Amino acid sequence: MFLQGVCRYVWLPLLLPPLLRSEESCSEGIRRIGLHELTAMHEALESEGAVIVTGVHHTGGTWEEKASALPSLTFPGRLVSKTPKVQGIHLEHQHLKQNLTTKPFELVGKPLLPHTDGYIYGEFLPDYIAFVVESQSDTGGQNFVVDGNKVLERLCEKSGTADAPSLDACLLVRTQTVDLTERSPPGYVNGREFIAPLMRHQHQRLRFHRQVSVLACEDAVDEDGGLRSNLRPYQSLWSAVAPAHGGDGHQREVTELLEAVDAAVQQEAAAAPRFMLQEGEALMIDNYRMLHGREGYHGTTERKLWRVWFWTNESSGIPEGMPELGSVLDAEELSS
Ligand SMILES: *[C@@H]1O[C@H](CO)[C@@H](O)[C@H](O)[C@H]1NC(C)=O
Ligand SMILES: *[C@@H]1O[C@H](CO)[C@@H](O)[C@H](O)[C@H]1NC(C)=O
Repeated sequence: MFLQGVCRYVWLPLLLPPLLRSEESCSEGIRRIGLHELTAMHEALESEGAVIVTGVHHTGGTWEEKASALPSLTFPGRLVSKTPKVQGIHLEHQHLKQNLTTKPFELVGKPLLPHTDGYIYGEFLPDYIAFVVESQSDTGGQNFVVDGNKVLERLCEKSGTADAPSLDACLLVRTQTVDLTERSPPGYVNGREFIAPLMRHQHQRLRFHRQVSVLACEDAVDEDGGLRSNLRPYQSLWSAVAPAHGGDGHQREVTELLEAVDAAVQQEAAAAPRFMLQEGEALMIDNYRMLHGREGYHGTTERKLWRVWFWTNESSGIPEGMPELGSVLDAEELSS
């Protein structure tokens, strides 16, 4: 099980006042940083790709307003988005079943495979996202992140070894153009067309995005409702761009590349430490470099999370005339 990687609070006995606790007992976990410690927060975002922001509950207003204030408090002067769109994930769940074009299996409470948010924007997806916790469920709901840099390292380590695939995934992942568009089915919604290499750098930051197929989500959950840790069949929505003429050998190579990268993501996801967010905290994620996922949850307490999508001056921006959205449920607005 994933318990081994779960970060726990440890109480430091005697030497410290009882209210002081060490940050986390896990070595490579996501750091907790106070809302107003901007320098430390951005250092953490740069080194780990994600940070847990504490003290969000002290900002004024409703939970939706607290979530909405988070981007301008943490990225002052750097936002492209003027009014970050906030969506209550718990409210969204109420609409999910009837409004998605595919018929996903019951999603609420099921584990989430590692993915990127905002795929409906194609290339112009938000470069940072945050989840503000109003309340957690009684059991489960541990988060984890998958670092694109680690996926790349894993692919490059393998190159040149005996069990290396016949192709140079380390190089091709950054050079081979593939189709990253979210299409439904097997995706949840239809997003804007997005054709690019799987990985590339933008302002020194790795860009790396992944959505998963509806069927893969079903397959990824074990009998006990947890996320399986063994390698599963291909889960990503990445596909080869249809060639202009012939090229079966090339198609096979691209398919092999996509499978190798998907497998590396699955291995990183299984190895990623799990951590638990507390009420009043926000998980802030670099949505260019990191994927995020979550274990299943259950209980009678309603889990209430507010999701924020925002664009900074180091993103590709929001295309002219495109509305700022906060949910895949708004996908129709983009195509109309
Ligand atoms: C979902 O669909 C229902 C009925 O089809 C509609 O009333 C509701 O506004 C939709 N919700 C969203 C978020 O689009
Ligand atoms: C974005 O804004 C920050 C803060 O003003 C600045 O340091 C950085 O260079 C800017 N990045 C780009 C790509 O303009």
